[in-house]
Amino acid sequence: MVEIYNLQELNDQLSPIRDKGLKIGFVPTMGALHDGHISLINKAKKECDFVVVSIFVNPTQFNNSKDLEQYPRTEKEDIKLLRKNECDFVFLPSVSEMYPENYVAEKVDLHHIENTMEGAHRPGHFDGVVNIVSRFFRMVQPTKAFFGRKDFQQVAVVIEMVKQLKIQVDIVVVDTKRNASGLAMSSRNLRLSEQELEQAVVISQVLNKGQAWAKTYSPVITLEKMKRYFEDSALKLEYLQIVHPETLNDLNQYWVPGATACIAAFCGDVRLIDNMELVSTEEN
Ligand code: PAF
Repeated sequence: MVEIYNLQELNDQLSPIRDKGLKIGFVPTMGALHDGHISLINKAKKECDFVVVSIFVNPTQFNNSKDLEQYPRTEKEDIKLLRKNECDFVFLPSVSEMYPENYVAEKVDLHHIENTMEGAHRPGHFDGVVNIVSRFFRMVQPTKAFFGRKDFQQVAVVIEMVKQLKIQVDIVVVDTKRNASGLAMSSRNLRLSEQELEQAVVISQVLNKGQAWAKTYSPVITLEKMKRYFEDSALKLEYLQIVHPETLNDLNQYWVPGATACIAAFCGDVRLIDNMELVSTEEN
């Protein structure tokens, strides 16, 4: 695996691959890699000739400086894990490489999908995501880019961004990896105590309950029951919404295929997010 630290090295490595018309798979990450990231890398390896993983804790997508400070950084272990999983290139740029003084952010109209849920609770978060992902796409010029479904709204934002900016890349969405208890894998789980790891299981439990209730009740009643179920937990709910899979508008009376419940909650001082499709895209 080649370690790359700047744009010049990135171009030197990737130009010959592009010139041969080979497929470049790209997995953007903020490090603290876990099995969820490995599943993205494995999918990229299957579908592309070369795989580039970036590790960059992007300051512009954190609306809270304490959250940025506390974000886990495990670069040495990450590089070891990437080598073990036969990744071809790891790109580890500095902040000044990604945001040079003359940097101008690309403007994108996301049609309000950035304003609900994460966007409503983390103002500016998706501006930061759009900044960094568009910049990475311009630099890496991947054939395909791989994102985890756990960041449901991020996936919707990236798909819209690619459309608006007319960037030639296929976005591949990979299912959420869960540990044995059902907790969605996340870099932030590293900050949970043993007890909190047990308490956090309520997130996937309430999503599973929602899936069952959706067979009988309307979205609005299902949501009410889910919120009531969650009230008894040790976690502090930030939001729980049942949304349309594309517009991300809240659903009220009627289900649509792909209707998804999205949740953010604090377990101690660690903010966790998760989501689950409540109505399969195959159902009507
Ligand atoms: O999902 C993440 O880890 C980040 O939002 C991403 C896509 C790497 C951009 O910083």
